[in-house]
Amino acid sequence: MTQFKKTFLNKKLVSISFASTILFTSLIGFNLPNIERLGPNIASAATATYTATDNLNIRTGPSTTNKIITTVKKGTQLKVTGKTSNGWLKVSIKGRTGYVSSKYVKITNSSSTTVKKPENKSNVAATTYTATDNLNIRTGPSTTNKIITTVKKGTQLKVTGKTSNGWLKVSIKGQTGYVSSQYVKTSNSSSDTIHVVTKPESISALVNKKNKLPENYVPKDLVYTSIPFIFKEKTEKRKMRREASTAIGKLFADAKKQGVSLLGVSAYRSHATQVVLFNSYVKRDGYKKALTYSALPGTSEHETGLAIDVTGGNGKCAAQDCFGGTKEAKWLKSHAANYGFIIRYPKGKESITGYQYEPWHLRYVGKSIAKTIMSKGITLEEYYSSKYVAK
Ligand code: DAL
Ligand code: ZN
Repeated sequence: MTQFKKTFLNKKLVSISFASTILFTSLIGFNLPNIERLGPNIASAATATYTATDNLNIRTGPSTTNKIITTVKKGTQLKVTGKTSNGWLKVSIKGRTGYVSSKYVKITNSSSTTVKKPENKSNVAATTYTATDNLNIRTGPSTTNKIITTVKKGTQLKVTGKTSNGWLKVSIKGQTGYVSSQYVKTSNSSSDTIHVVTKPESISALVNKKNKLPENYVPKDLVYTSIPFIFKEKTEKRKMRREASTAIGKLFADAKKQGVSLLGVSAYRSHATQVVLFNSYVKRDGYKKALTYSALPGTSEHETGLAIDVTGGNGKCAAQDCFGGTKEAKWLKSHAANYGFIIRYPKGKESITGYQYEPWHLRYVGKSIAKTIMSKGITLEEYYSSKYVAK
């Protein structure tokens, strides 16, 4: 197990409020490697409990101008059957359909599955300084300076700077002191650190197991793609960021002209949807296995609106290994970069990407980066480490 994964496993369990018993039950019936290929209503299939947070008017339509059918007391559980585009909830009450403002409805989850959530760490790798022996802290950076205090071997020091002669400046009991760096061990937690992506809106943002999206990140320019999907419904899974959406449209059109028919499987996924998905995989395969093919919520490229899973026109092999080696997969490998996409999780790069081979997962990074990556046969991780460019 990598150090990184250990870190994840050691993190606190955080209860997530979107799991779905109904969803899970239905998923168990599918013998599929990847639930992305399931129908579009994953999020809405979640079994949530809806409770009125105040005495609440139920109306004939989704606005306060509509007539009141009845008023329910604070704490009443509502039977929610849908959602309107203006954020009202459709409810079933006394055999009738009514509408309530979702502002006054608390949504809780009936099946609180947990996932390990990465800690919200800063972008800077934390260095720990530890005294390797009992250590004198002095008023200046030389043994001729007076001793302020002595710290025991093993003490962690708060280092604030370094002098030109190799002593460390430390802050101790509100004073500034100096210690010889000879007796100080540094350990860097960078390999364990989960960075928060500083520019999540960047087309070339690196989002992976070590670089997570900021809390509550929602891309601003999501649009419905024009491409066909393996399902008919108009859901969030059809959406991508505007630039990526245009590019995937061109890719699909040109592929078709060349006799390669493609279908979308899953593009944008909200954080909530990723939570439901990831939890369902954990339930099915266990946490460790799930991590090899599904991203922890907050670390999925699908949440950026820049990734899309695709499959061949017959809809078979959607998000399944059998897509690899198909005519469509081969076409994508040699043409995707011309449209700004990369095959994000290539075969043989599992230890770098942290994920099993996914010939179906395309990530939009823009033409220039995509061409470099695909022509060199590298990953986005390698691209950044080779160029040392800001992410
Ligand atoms: N299947 C990819 C890794 C995801 O969950 O984003
Ligand atoms: Zn994917």
